Amino acid sequence: MTTWYDEAFRPGSEIKGKWNGRVYVVERLLGAGSNGIVALVRRGSARFALKAGYETVDHQSEINSLLAISLKDNSFKNFLIDADDMIVQGKGISFYVMRYIEGVTLSDFIHKRGQDWIYVIGSNLLRKLTEIHKSGYVFGDLKAENMIVSNYGDVDLIDFGGVTSKGRAIKQLTEVYDRGFWSMGERVAEESYDLFSFAILLLKSLDHRKRFTGFIKTLPQNRELDHLTAIMKENPVAAQLAPFLNKALHGEFRTSEEASIYWRKLLAGKKVAYSTLKLPWLKICFAASLFICGATIYVFWG
Ligand SMILES: Nc1ncnc2c1ncn2[C@@H]1O[C@H](COP(=O)(O)OP(=O)(O)O)[C@@H](O)[C@H]1O
Ligand SMILES: [Mg+2]
Repeated sequence: MTTWYDEAFRPGSEIKGKWNGRVYVVERLLGAGSNGIVALVRRGSARFALKAGYETVDHQSEINSLLAISLKDNSFKNFLIDADDMIVQGKGISFYVMRYIEGVTLSDFIHKRGQDWIYVIGSNLLRKLTEIHKSGYVFGDLKAENMIVSNYGDVDLIDFGGVTSKGRAIKQLTEVYDRGFWSMGERVAEESYDLFSFAILLLKSLDHRKRFTGFIKTLPQNRELDHLTAIMKENPVAAQLAPFLNKALHGEFRTSEEASIYWRKLLAGKKVAYSTLKLPWLKICFAASLFICGATIYVFWG
């Protein structure tokens, strides 16, 4: 069966905004989740990600949340590019256009580059959460699928469907990342809600045994944080982070800023392998030194 988006998002198709009139050409599909479908599009020589929503009301609320967190002078500021409707098979479908983030999932990144990168990635992710929290919101549905890791451990959050005003009930969640699922707190938009998911996210990506798939099948009364402690005992990176992870899982950080400070302090004293991180700079310095050396020889002989 072909769906509306098979037609609208076929590579080469044009998507024209009904109100703003901008035209986007589809390159390929990037992904589909529970709220929408996302395609890589081109407008002139610029590439963007375009997300079309299944449900207009939810989609509008996602755009509003994104707008709300990008009001402050932070890294979300120019993330939203356009919001409009397109007509597909005679029906109006809302979409929004955002910056295209090139990168990979957290697990792919650490699988390829090594688990030590979690220290840098974690610190960058905490910074992103702090930005959202400072604008009065909570991310809500923090999980591996809703973030993209690029370059040297840069992190971008990409799905704003779960963003909720502080104090309100969490709008959208994913079972194992949800503290309610573990009976570790309410489904209320508090900074500690995101920090719980943050801890799960790290543990899930460090766990070699894929334990999390099994957790979904266990009965609520048998879901215990002790199962997570096992990961912290087994994995050396998780073991280093254990004091932080335990605090986050037990809701002991009031704010993400407080969590960031703890993260930095905890890792400051430890031997963290940043050597891979320094490599690009070494390469640049090496290239620069060759250039200077070449220039000297040239001047000398010239
Ligand atoms: N800005 C973006 N840049 C690159 N890829 C993106 C972007 N936004 C979404 N994606 C891809 O599309 C997938 C689905 O997008 P998402 O917003 O999470 O949809 P849903 O709300 O339906 O879960 C993501 O997991 C990601 O792979
Ligand atoms: Mg998603």
